[in-house]
Amino acid sequence: MKLSFGNLLFAASSLTAVNAFSIQRLSSVSTSTTSLDARRPILAGNWKLNPKSRDEALALLNGLSPSPSDVDVLIFPPLPYLGDVLKALPAGVQVGAQTCSNYEEGAFTGEVAPSMLASMNVGYVLLGHSERRTLFGETDSDINARVLTCLKEPNLKVVLCVGETLDEYEAGLLNSIVDTQTRKGLSGVSAQDLINGRVVIAYEPVWAIGTGLTATPEQAQNAHTVIRNTLAAMYPSTAVAESVRIQYGGSVKPESIADLMSQPDIDGALVGGASLDAASFNAIVGGASTGAAPVAAAAPVSYAVPAPTVPSSFPSYGGMPRVVEKYVPPAPRM
Ligand code: PGA
Repeated sequence: MKLSFGNLLFAASSLTAVNAFSIQRLSSVSTSTTSLDARRPILAGNWKLNPKSRDEALALLNGLSPSPSDVDVLIFPPLPYLGDVLKALPAGVQVGAQTCSNYEEGAFTGEVAPSMLASMNVGYVLLGHSERRTLFGETDSDINARVLTCLKEPNLKVVLCVGETLDEYEAGLLNSIVDTQTRKGLSGVSAQDLINGRVVIAYEPVWAIGTGLTATPEQAQNAHTVIRNTLAAMYPSTAVAESVRIQYGGSVKPESIADLMSQPDIDGALVGGASLDAASFNAIVGGASTGAAPVAAAAPVSYAVPAPTVPSSFPSYGGMPRVVEKYVPPAPRM
Protein backbone atom coordinates (compact mmCIF):
# COMPACT_ATOMS: atom_id res chain seq x y z
CA MET A 1 0.00 0.00 0.00
CA LYS A 2 1.20 3.44 -0.83
CA LEU A 3 2.07 5.47 2.21
CA SER A 4 1.19 8.98 1.35
CA PHE A 5 0.24 11.91 3.45
CA GLY A 6 2.06 10.13 6.26
CA ASN A 7 4.11 13.20 7.00
CA LEU A 8 2.33 15.57 4.76
CA LEU A 9 -0.87 17.41 5.44
CA PHE A 10 -2.41 20.49 4.11
CA ALA A 11 -4.57 22.20 6.65
CA ALA A 12 -7.41 23.84 4.79
CA SER A 13 -7.99 26.48 7.39
CA SER A 14 -4.39 27.62 7.60
CA LEU A 15 -3.92 27.41 3.86
CA THR A 16 -6.66 29.82 3.08
CA ALA A 17 -5.03 32.25 5.46
CA VAL A 18 -1.53 31.88 4.04
CA ASN A 19 -0.25 31.89 0.53
CA ALA A 20 -2.23 29.08 -1.08
CA PHE A 21 0.62 28.37 -3.46
CA SER A 22 3.24 27.63 -0.86
CA ILE A 23 3.76 23.95 -0.35
CA GLN A 24 2.94 22.94 3.18
CA ARG A 25 4.75 20.00 4.66
CA LEU A 26 3.61 19.34 8.16
CA SER A 27 4.48 16.42 10.36
CA SER A 28 2.68 13.90 12.54
CA VAL A 29 -0.48 13.35 10.66
CA SER A 30 -2.67 10.35 10.94
CA THR A 31 -4.54 9.43 7.81
CA SER A 32 -7.64 7.33 7.75
CA THR A 33 -7.31 3.86 6.29
CA THR A 34 -10.29 4.57 4.09
CA SER A 35 -8.62 7.42 2.31
CA LEU A 36 -5.42 5.45 1.77
CA ASP A 37 -7.40 2.52 0.40
CA ALA A 38 -9.18 4.89 -1.90
CA ARG A 39 -5.85 5.85 -3.44
CA ARG A 40 -5.21 2.63 -5.28
CA PRO A 41 -2.70 3.23 -8.05
CA ILE A 42 -4.40 4.04 -11.35
CA LEU A 43 -2.61 3.59 -14.68
CA ALA A 44 -4.25 4.89 -17.80
CA GLY A 45 -3.33 4.60 -21.47
CA ASN A 46 -4.41 7.49 -23.66
CA TRP A 47 -4.39 6.22 -27.24
CA LYS A 48 -5.26 9.68 -28.65
CA LEU A 49 -5.89 9.49 -32.46
CA ASN A 50 -4.33 6.01 -32.71
CA PRO A 51 -4.19 3.40 -34.07
CA LYS A 52 -5.51 4.00 -37.57
CA SER A 53 -7.84 1.02 -37.87
CA ARG A 54 -10.14 -1.16 -35.80
CA ASP A 55 -7.99 -4.23 -36.47
CA GLU A 56 -4.88 -2.50 -35.19
CA ALA A 57 -6.79 -1.31 -32.14
CA LEU A 58 -7.93 -4.85 -31.38
CA ALA A 59 -4.39 -6.16 -31.88
CA LEU A 60 -3.10 -3.60 -29.38
CA LEU A 61 -5.85 -4.55 -26.96
CA ASN A 62 -5.05 -8.25 -27.34
CA GLY A 63 -1.49 -7.56 -26.23
CA LEU A 64 -2.59 -6.06 -22.91
CA SER A 65 -2.26 -8.15 -19.78
CA PRO A 66 -5.09 -8.58 -17.31
CA SER A 67 -4.94 -5.95 -14.59
CA PRO A 68 -3.04 -6.90 -11.43
CA SER A 69 -5.50 -6.93 -8.54
CA ASP A 70 -3.79 -4.10 -6.61
CA VAL A 71 -4.04 -1.40 -9.31
CA ASP A 72 -6.70 0.10 -11.57
CA VAL A 73 -5.90 -0.10 -15.27
CA LEU A 74 -7.76 2.04 -17.74
CA ILE A 75 -7.50 2.70 -21.46
CA PHE A 76 -8.84 5.62 -23.49
CA PRO A 77 -9.30 4.37 -27.07
CA PRO A 78 -10.76 6.55 -29.84
CA LEU A 79 -14.56 6.69 -29.68
CA PRO A 80 -15.30 4.52 -32.76
CA TYR A 81 -13.47 1.57 -31.19
CA LEU A 82 -15.24 1.69 -27.84
CA GLY A 83 -17.89 -0.93 -28.63
CA ASP A 84 -15.39 -3.51 -29.87
CA VAL A 85 -12.88 -2.74 -27.13
CA LEU A 86 -15.52 -3.21 -24.44
CA LYS A 87 -16.29 -6.69 -25.74
CA ALA A 88 -12.65 -7.84 -25.78
CA LEU A 89 -11.19 -6.27 -22.64
CA PRO A 90 -8.53 -8.14 -20.67
CA ALA A 91 -9.76 -8.98 -17.17
CA GLY A 92 -9.95 -6.02 -14.86
CA VAL A 93 -9.07 -3.39 -17.48
CA GLN A 94 -11.52 -0.49 -17.66
CA VAL A 95 -12.40 1.84 -20.50
CA GLY A 96 -12.78 5.57 -20.82
CA ALA A 97 -13.62 8.09 -23.54
CA GLN A 98 -11.10 10.78 -24.51
CA THR A 99 -13.67 13.55 -24.38
CA CYS A 100 -17.41 14.13 -24.33
CA SER A 101 -19.96 16.85 -24.81
CA ASN A 102 -21.08 19.26 -22.15
CA TYR A 103 -24.60 18.84 -23.55
CA GLU A 104 -26.84 16.04 -22.41
CA GLU A 105 -28.79 15.64 -25.66
CA GLY A 106 -30.13 17.60 -28.58
CA ALA A 107 -29.11 19.17 -31.87
CA PHE A 108 -25.33 19.11 -31.45
CA THR A 109 -23.97 17.35 -34.52
CA GLY A 110 -20.87 15.27 -33.88
CA GLU A 111 -21.06 15.40 -30.10
CA VAL A 112 -21.16 12.44 -27.72
CA ALA A 113 -23.14 12.77 -24.50
CA PRO A 114 -22.03 11.36 -21.15
CA SER A 115 -25.25 9.34 -20.88
CA MET A 116 -24.40 7.60 -24.18
CA LEU A 117 -21.01 6.58 -22.81
CA ALA A 118 -22.46 5.43 -19.49
CA SER A 119 -25.10 3.36 -21.27
CA MET A 120 -22.29 1.43 -23.01
CA ASN A 121 -20.48 0.66 -19.74
CA VAL A 122 -17.77 3.22 -20.39
CA GLY A 123 -16.54 4.09 -16.90
CA TYR A 124 -14.39 7.20 -17.31
CA VAL A 125 -14.08 10.36 -19.39
CA LEU A 126 -10.76 12.19 -19.88
CA LEU A 127 -11.27 15.95 -19.68
CA GLY A 128 -9.03 18.98 -19.86
CA HIS A 129 -6.18 17.29 -21.70
CA SER A 130 -3.71 19.93 -22.89
CA GLU A 131 -4.34 18.92 -26.51
CA ARG A 132 -8.04 19.69 -26.05
CA ARG A 133 -7.13 22.98 -24.37
CA THR A 134 -4.55 24.17 -26.89
CA LEU A 135 -5.64 22.59 -30.20
CA PHE A 136 -9.40 22.71 -29.72
CA GLY A 137 -9.71 25.84 -27.61
CA GLU A 138 -11.36 24.27 -24.58
CA THR A 139 -11.38 26.73 -21.72
CA ASP A 140 -11.48 26.02 -18.02
CA SER A 141 -15.19 26.81 -18.02
CA ASP A 142 -15.86 24.45 -20.98
CA ILE A 143 -13.97 21.75 -19.14
CA ASN A 144 -15.84 22.42 -15.92
CA ALA A 145 -19.18 22.16 -17.77
CA ARG A 146 -18.15 18.75 -19.09
CA VAL A 147 -17.00 17.62 -15.64
CA LEU A 148 -20.34 18.57 -14.11
CA THR A 149 -22.34 16.94 -16.93
CA CYS A 150 -20.37 13.72 -16.58
CA LEU A 151 -20.85 13.60 -12.84
CA LYS A 152 -24.63 13.65 -13.31
CA GLU A 153 -24.19 10.10 -14.61
CA PRO A 154 -23.78 8.00 -11.47
CA ASN A 155 -21.52 5.44 -13.13
CA LEU A 156 -19.14 7.82 -14.85
CA LYS A 157 -15.87 9.04 -13.39
CA VAL A 158 -13.66 11.81 -14.71
CA VAL A 159 -9.92 12.14 -15.19
CA LEU A 160 -9.29 15.89 -15.12
CA CYS A 161 -5.96 17.00 -16.59
CA VAL A 162 -4.09 20.08 -15.44
CA GLY A 163 -0.60 21.30 -16.19
CA GLU A 164 1.56 24.24 -17.19
CA THR A 165 3.24 24.98 -20.52
CA LEU A 166 7.00 25.39 -20.86
CA ASP A 167 6.68 29.20 -20.95
CA GLU A 168 4.58 29.13 -17.83
CA TYR A 169 7.01 26.77 -16.13
CA GLU A 170 9.96 28.98 -16.99
CA ALA A 171 8.11 32.03 -15.79
CA GLY A 172 7.63 30.38 -12.40
CA LEU A 173 3.88 30.05 -12.90
CA LEU A 174 3.51 26.31 -12.27
CA ASN A 175 1.79 26.77 -8.91
CA SER A 176 -0.69 29.38 -10.04
CA ILE A 177 -1.57 27.61 -13.31
CA VAL A 178 -2.11 24.27 -11.65
CA ASP A 179 -4.03 25.87 -8.79
CA THR A 180 -6.29 27.83 -11.16
CA GLN A 181 -6.98 24.91 -13.51
CA THR A 182 -7.81 22.67 -10.55
CA ARG A 183 -10.13 25.23 -8.94
CA LYS A 184 -11.93 26.08 -12.16
CA GLY A 185 -12.15 22.49 -13.37
CA LEU A 186 -13.67 21.36 -10.08
CA SER A 187 -15.96 24.33 -9.52
CA GLY A 188 -19.30 23.02 -8.28
CA VAL A 189 -18.05 19.46 -7.71
CA SER A 190 -19.15 18.18 -4.32
CA ALA A 191 -16.74 17.01 -1.65
CA GLN A 192 -18.63 13.73 -1.56
CA ASP A 193 -18.02 13.06 -5.26
CA LEU A 194 -14.31 13.66 -4.70
CA ILE A 195 -14.16 11.49 -1.59
CA ASN A 196 -16.03 8.79 -3.52
CA GLY A 197 -13.28 8.74 -6.13
CA ARG A 198 -15.39 10.13 -8.97
CA VAL A 199 -12.62 12.49 -10.09
CA VAL A 200 -9.01 11.57 -10.68
CA ILE A 201 -6.65 14.47 -11.39
CA ALA A 202 -3.82 14.04 -13.88
CA TYR A 203 -0.93 16.46 -13.54
CA GLU A 204 0.60 16.70 -17.00
CA PRO A 205 3.23 19.36 -17.60
CA VAL A 206 2.62 20.31 -21.24
CA TRP A 207 6.37 20.47 -21.87
CA ALA A 208 6.67 16.78 -20.99
CA ILE A 209 3.85 15.46 -23.19
CA GLY A 210 5.14 13.52 -26.18
CA THR A 211 8.53 15.22 -25.92
CA GLY A 212 10.55 12.55 -24.18
CA LEU A 213 11.17 15.05 -21.37
CA THR A 214 9.86 13.78 -18.06
CA ALA A 215 9.47 15.83 -14.93
CA THR A 216 11.78 14.43 -12.30
CA PRO A 217 9.94 12.49 -9.61
CA GLU A 218 10.65 15.40 -7.24
CA GLN A 219 9.25 17.99 -9.67
CA ALA A 220 6.15 15.88 -10.18
CA GLN A 221 5.77 15.36 -6.43
CA ASN A 222 5.94 19.12 -5.85
CA ALA A 223 3.23 19.76 -8.43
CA HIS A 224 1.05 17.06 -6.90
CA THR A 225 1.53 18.76 -3.55
CA VAL A 226 0.31 22.01 -5.06
CA ILE A 227 -2.84 20.20 -6.21
CA ARG A 228 -3.45 18.72 -2.76
CA ASN A 229 -2.94 22.18 -1.27
CA THR A 230 -5.58 23.51 -3.62
CA LEU A 231 -8.00 20.72 -2.72
CA ALA A 232 -7.39 21.39 0.97
CA ALA A 233 -8.08 25.08 0.45
CA MET A 234 -11.22 24.42 -1.62
CA TYR A 235 -12.86 21.82 0.61
CA PRO A 236 -13.13 22.09 4.40
CA SER A 237 -12.96 18.30 4.77
CA THR A 238 -9.32 17.19 4.73
CA ALA A 239 -10.63 13.83 3.47
CA VAL A 240 -10.86 15.40 0.01
CA ALA A 241 -7.17 16.31 -0.28
CA GLU A 242 -6.24 12.98 1.26
CA SER A 243 -8.37 10.78 -0.94
CA VAL A 244 -8.27 12.21 -4.48
CA ARG A 245 -5.97 10.20 -6.72
CA ILE A 246 -3.46 12.24 -8.72
CA GLN A 247 -1.68 10.75 -11.71
CA TYR A 248 1.46 12.06 -13.33
CA GLY A 249 1.55 12.21 -17.14
CA GLY A 250 4.20 13.22 -19.65
CA SER A 251 6.57 10.78 -21.40
CA VAL A 252 6.11 8.08 -18.75
CA LYS A 253 8.10 4.99 -19.67
CA PRO A 254 8.65 1.56 -18.09
CA GLU A 255 12.02 2.88 -16.82
CA SER A 256 10.49 5.90 -15.03
CA ILE A 257 7.36 4.47 -13.42
CA ALA A 258 8.90 3.01 -10.27
CA ASP A 259 10.61 6.27 -9.26
CA LEU A 260 7.46 8.24 -9.96
CA MET A 261 5.33 5.84 -7.93
CA SER A 262 7.75 6.01 -5.02
CA GLN A 263 6.71 9.62 -4.43
CA PRO A 264 4.12 9.97 -1.68
CA ASP A 265 1.57 11.95 -3.66
CA ILE A 266 1.81 10.26 -7.05
CA ASP A 267 -0.96 7.71 -7.37
CA GLY A 268 -0.47 6.55 -10.93
CA ALA A 269 0.28 7.62 -14.46
CA LEU A 270 -1.48 8.82 -17.59
CA VAL A 271 0.49 7.35 -20.46
CA GLY A 272 0.34 8.46 -24.08
CA GLY A 273 3.00 7.21 -26.51
CA ALA A 274 4.11 4.25 -24.40
CA SER A 275 0.52 2.97 -24.20
CA LEU A 276 0.56 2.30 -27.95
CA ASP A 277 3.00 -0.52 -27.38
CA ALA A 278 1.32 -3.26 -25.36
CA ALA A 279 4.59 -4.54 -23.86
CA SER A 280 5.56 -1.05 -22.68
CA PHE A 281 2.16 -0.38 -21.18
CA ASN A 282 2.14 -3.78 -19.46
CA ALA A 283 5.58 -2.99 -18.03
CA ILE A 284 4.37 0.38 -16.75
CA VAL A 285 1.38 -1.26 -15.09
CA GLY A 286 3.68 -3.92 -13.64
CA GLY A 287 6.01 -1.22 -12.32
CA ALA A 288 3.16 0.32 -10.34
CA SER A 289 1.96 -2.97 -8.89
CA THR A 290 3.48 -4.81 -5.98
CA GLY A 291 3.32 -7.96 -8.09
CA ALA A 292 -0.23 -8.87 -7.17
CA ALA A 293 -1.94 -11.67 -9.06
CA PRO A 294 -4.01 -10.61 -12.05
CA VAL A 295 -7.71 -10.06 -11.67
CA ALA A 296 -9.60 -13.22 -12.57
CA ALA A 297 -11.36 -13.07 -15.90
CA ALA A 298 -14.96 -12.06 -15.42
CA ALA A 299 -17.92 -12.95 -17.55
CA PRO A 300 -17.91 -10.87 -20.71
CA VAL A 301 -19.76 -7.60 -20.57
CA SER A 302 -23.39 -8.25 -21.32
CA TYR A 303 -24.97 -6.29 -24.07
CA ALA A 304 -28.45 -7.57 -23.33
CA VAL A 305 -29.90 -4.14 -23.77
CA PRO A 306 -33.70 -4.19 -23.41
CA ALA A 307 -35.61 -3.74 -26.65
CA PRO A 308 -36.16 -0.04 -27.26
CA THR A 309 -39.63 1.26 -26.70
CA VAL A 310 -40.67 3.45 -29.58
CA PRO A 311 -41.99 6.75 -28.28
CA SER A 312 -45.25 7.99 -29.76
CA SER A 313 -43.72 11.44 -30.07
CA PHE A 314 -40.13 12.59 -29.96
CA PRO A 315 -38.91 15.05 -27.38
CA SER A 316 -38.11 18.52 -28.52
CA TYR A 317 -34.44 19.23 -29.08
CA GLY A 318 -32.39 22.38 -29.25
CA GLY A 319 -35.47 24.38 -28.35
CA MET A 320 -37.23 23.40 -31.59
CA PRO A 321 -40.33 21.21 -31.39
CA ARG A 322 -39.80 18.26 -33.65
CA VAL A 323 -42.69 17.32 -35.89
CA VAL A 324 -42.70 13.74 -37.03
CA GLU A 325 -44.93 13.25 -40.04
CA LYS A 326 -46.12 9.88 -41.18
CA TYR A 327 -44.45 8.91 -44.43
CA VAL A 328 -47.00 8.34 -47.17
CA PRO A 329 -45.46 6.55 -50.15
CA PRO A 330 -46.32 8.08 -53.53
CA ALA A 331 -48.89 6.24 -55.60
CA PRO A 332 -47.20 3.80 -57.96
CA ARG A 333 -46.81 5.04 -61.51
CA MET A 334 -48.82 3.24 -64.07
P1 PGA B 1 2.96 10.99 -23.50
O1 PGA B 1 1.46 11.56 -23.43
O2 PGA B 1 3.06 9.87 -22.53
O3 PGA B 1 3.14 10.57 -24.92
O4 PGA B 1 3.86 12.13 -23.14
C1 PGA B 1 0.79 11.71 -22.21
C2 PGA B 1 -0.58 12.30 -22.44
O5 PGA B 1 -0.72 13.13 -23.34
O6 PGA B 1 -1.55 11.95 -21.75
